Amino acid sequence: MIVPRIAEAKAHQLLGSFKSLAIMGPRQSGKTTLARHCFPEKPYVSLENPIYRK
Ligand SMILES: Nc1ncnc2c1ncn2[C@@H]1O[C@H](COP(=O)(O)OP(=O)(O)OP(=O)(O)O)[C@@H](O)[C@H]1O
Ligand SMILES: [Mg+2]
Repeated sequence: MIVPRIAEAKAHQLLGSFKSLAIMGPRQSGKTTLARHCFPEKPYVSLENPIYRK
């Protein structure tokens, strides 16, 4: 179950005015989950695996 985050509304609000959004925070705090949950229609690419960083 994904617990609702206060940052969800802020993320949508900011992307109404700006073309990009940076989500920063400690490891395993829910950054990726927040981004993918808020914007499911956007493509997802992870650069954590070095093979994708060419
Ligand atoms: N809103 C939420 N409700 C419940 N569980 C959550 C929520 N957000 C994240 N989690 C859980 O917390 C864990 C870490 O989430 P996530 O991978 O999104 O964090 P992250 O900040 O992107 O981590 P990393 O720093 O490793 O990239 C996952 O197991 C995820 O399922
Ligand atoms: Mg992540």
